Amino acid sequence: MTEKNISRRTVLKLMGAVAGAAALGTLPQLTGCHKNEQDVRSSDVQPEAPSDAKAFATKRIVLFFTGTGNCLYVAKSLSDAPVSIPQAMKKGEFEYEAEEIGIVYPIYGQMPPNMVRKFMKQAKLKCRYLFAVATYGNVKGGSVEVFQRIAGEYGLKFDYIATLLMVDNWLPMYDMSEQVKLDKKIDENLAAIKADIDTNKKYIEPVSDEEHQKAESLYQRTEGIFLPDGVHAKAEEWFTITDRCISCGICVRICPRSNYRIEVEQAVTSGECELCLACVHACPHKAIQLTKGEKNPNARFRNPNVKSSEIQRANNQHQS
Ligand SMILES: Cc1cc2nc3c(=O)[nH]c(=O)nc-3n(C[C@H](O)[C@H](O)[C@H](O)COP(=O)(O)O)c2cc1C
Repeated sequence: MTEKNISRRTVLKLMGAVAGAAALGTLPQLTGCHKNEQDVRSSDVQPEAPSDAKAFATKRIVLFFTGTGNCLYVAKSLSDAPVSIPQAMKKGEFEYEAEEIGIVYPIYGQMPPNMVRKFMKQAKLKCRYLFAVATYGNVKGGSVEVFQRIAGEYGLKFDYIATLLMVDNWLPMYDMSEQVKLDKKIDENLAAIKADIDTNKKYIEPVSDEEHQKAESLYQRTEGIFLPDGVHAKAEEWFTITDRCISCGICVRICPRSNYRIEVEQAVTSGECELCLACVHACPHKAIQLTKGEKNPNARFRNPNVKSSEIQRANNQHQS
């Protein structure tokens, strides 16, 4: 991690610079949700003529990334057949065409996960309406601006970006047994977002001064991990596998980076990590612990509307 010496202020500056430029209108003009000229440009679209409506065979595609099911729950609420970004990456499927395309992702230190970022870089999305929903648990800070900046770099122009407060699965700071007791009005807020998207509302959630300030304190605590170019973590440094491991293989199947393997009847992990914590939360024996410590090593979380098998299917890099 060569950027480790970068100062917090520099990080915030880098993260905010392009967003600020966008606010001032100094960014190059972006062209709808697409990257090449023959694609339809959402910002150019006028009220649709019936012939236009036939142009897309599919009404809506929702792409998602999830560690503990929050984003899968949101994606399932917006689409009957959401598409897993880890599976799309594995299969090299980057071209999608529909009337409406959406990305649902968890906020990691104000940013989308690395895999979402990489997917967006390669994606070719043809649509009339491009939307994103970012889930988070406590401090969203300047996430919407950061996401817009990244999308802009990859030629994607979003019509709608909203955040949704859900259970915070960040184990270093939160006790899951406490988190699940908080009433975050998830379904009420999700219904409002769904209504917006169903009516193709154009809206980019603003970032308040207070959120910018909260972002500053967030970076005081997480320096070195969440840098402007993404999340920096290595599985072998973050996770300790205790002798409670019974080699059930759930970690092998649930890791979207394929970082786990079973060796001599014990799970072993190494490699560049998304830090989604899917492995830690899903281990039925709580055998995977955070090496640097956590708020409550005995409490784990999975969105109650999502099965472990669904997250495994979404993330598994070993299935054909
Ligand atoms: C590595 C990591 C970083 C996170 N950073 C933030 C953050 O900066 N702000 C926040 O409010 N929540 C943060 N969270 C919480 C998640 O965004 C939140 O729990 C999300 O809904 C999880 O979605 P999932 O269940 O689909 O994985 C973080 C979680 C992880 C694992």
